[in-house]
Amino acid sequence: MPLVTSKELFQKAYKGGYAIGAFNVNNMEIIQGIFEAAIEEKSPLIIQVSSGARKYARHEYLIHLIQASMEMAEASGVSIPVVLHLDHGDDFDICKKCIDGGFSSVMIDASKHPLQENIRITREVVEYAHSKGVTVEAELGKLAGVEDEVNVSAKDATYTDPQEAKEFVDKSGCDSLAIAIGTSHGAYKFKGEPKLAFDRLQQIQDLLPNFPLVLHGASSVPQDLTDICNKYGGAIPGSRGVPEEMIAQAAKTGVCKINVDTDLRIALTGQIRKAFFENPAEFDPRKYLGPARDAIREVVKRKMRIMGCSGKA
Ligand code: G3H
Ligand code: 13P
Ligand code: ZN
Repeated sequence: MPLVTSKELFQKAYKGGYAIGAFNVNNMEIIQGIFEAAIEEKSPLIIQVSSGARKYARHEYLIHLIQASMEMAEASGVSIPVVLHLDHGDDFDICKKCIDGGFSSVMIDASKHPLQENIRITREVVEYAHSKGVTVEAELGKLAGVEDEVNVSAKDATYTDPQEAKEFVDKSGCDSLAIAIGTSHGAYKFKGEPKLAFDRLQQIQDLLPNFPLVLHGASSVPQDLTDICNKYGGAIPGSRGVPEEMIAQAAKTGVCKINVDTDLRIALTGQIRKAFFENPAEFDPRKYLGPARDAIREVVKRKMRIMGCSGKA
């Protein structure tokens, strides 16, 4: 099965009240673990590549690894729709490179610019992408950092404004929109009790019915995974993510794409630390990258069940 765009997948997800997991990839083991999970769960898949991942692994290597995984999936008799997506494209240039290089979806993240400039930059990417049959995710609002949580007015200024979201979508022509409702990237998302602005999500939904929304910074940072890291020499105490029940709730409320990177990193690092700790004389990379790949598979399966995309391939 060739790559698909996000359009059709999101329509089905929206109607079905589930979200599709979007997983960041940086190397072969991560890609294999994610595909193994998608095959087992019979789930559609969004594989996303950041500009950092493109630099680290080189664009061409990642594309070929993903193509090989799609062939393996096909050979296993499970037909999985796969979107190859650029995560956080900074400007028109990187989006164009990815569109020309075979991606089926790109994100233009011009959210650091004022509204009208964000619209202008996004519109430019949309025009080029659509002329090539590629879908576009954009972003409006700023993902909170832990330090932003201290006062309510700072939160208000960074969360996506529903009226602006409507204007943004109408004028930019983007196919999906990443919104800020209290999530943030990384392992330290909340200082106190985790809280997301579901009221704001609903207001955005009301103004943009049937329009697919995207949640970035949505790792749950599960304690069982951080415990493994910390037990074997890691130091990520006090980390906290988005509780799994909030992920499930968002998936039922018009959020069609949920981004996960941090949980994959923690799962992978925990197994490598464990292998190093338990067997210091071992130096065969397969002995620690193999368990790391298995851990990626398991964490992705868990996510797919929570988001509701298992069985939806
Ligand atoms: O949004 C950020 C993703 O976790 C990708 O991170 O830019 O370090 O590859 P990265
Ligand atoms: P996490 O850091 O919560 O995994 O978010 C990843 C992300 O949003 C990638 O764009
Ligand atoms: Zn992100």
